[in-house]
Amino acid sequence: MKRPKDLLQQVHNQVWDLVKHLWAPNAAFGHGTDHAHRAYAIGMRLAEAESADPLPVGAACYLMDAGLDLTAGRRNHIARGIELAREVCAAIPALGEVSELVYMAVAHHEADNSLPPLQPPEVLVVRDSDTLDRMGSSGVRMTLTYGTWIKRPLHHPGDPCCEHRKPQLDSFTLDYVRHLYSLKDAISTQSGRALIPAKLAEQDAFITGFRERWERLAGRLRYVDGFDIVDKLDQLEPNGAADRIGEEYR
Ligand SMILES: [Fe+2]
Ligand SMILES: [Fe+2]
Repeated sequence: MKRPKDLLQQVHNQVWDLVKHLWAPNAAFGHGTDHAHRAYAIGMRLAEAESADPLPVGAACYLMDAGLDLTAGRRNHIARGIELAREVCAAIPALGEVSELVYMAVAHHEADNSLPPLQPPEVLVVRDSDTLDRMGSSGVRMTLTYGTWIKRPLHHPGDPCCEHRKPQLDSFTLDYVRHLYSLKDAISTQSGRALIPAKLAEQDAFITGFRERWERLAGRLRYVDGFDIVDKLDQLEPNGAADRIGEEYR
């Protein structure tokens, strides 16, 4: 659906002004304002390609994870997101005609949850935007940050990149990075699927770089967790693994 660009920008800015303070603290576990902005950028791109209405798509991208917080984490974040969406739509009259789409998009944004059939393109686009940002360099960085925050061990001692086991998501952060590969199956729009190869290549580059250095430097790095290991790798080898996980968001 075509809408005047300046109106879109204005409404989306209003939404952002109402919720940005909720996103900012969540940078501590990798879901800060950068995740919102990247998902929004992908959402706008996919909305155009999929002929989805960009008005609810942009609003929902700014709302979907606004319900996350430092104490409850992911628990009930969708229900809180829907509550916030109701408050925001009530405060911004221009969202009135698309408010139901905003609520539905927030409700179904998580790729880990099942998706009822026959969803409108706006819902699919928002879900794909969140999922695509959880993949590739951005997804690896979010996963590492989250793992460090919850103090999850970085990797299995004998199979660090989870190449010969089923991922143990609660046990090792790099097992979660392995799990990110399965997210590609959750992408449902054609334009979203077109972005998958680049995302997988970024994940491959991180894992290959990590494994090479782990094999060479394991003795010195075995007990270092999360970002520390990336920093340490950089100190030991300039242009090391940290460069491979998305310099633009550092
Ligand atoms: Fe979420
Ligand atoms: Fe998210």
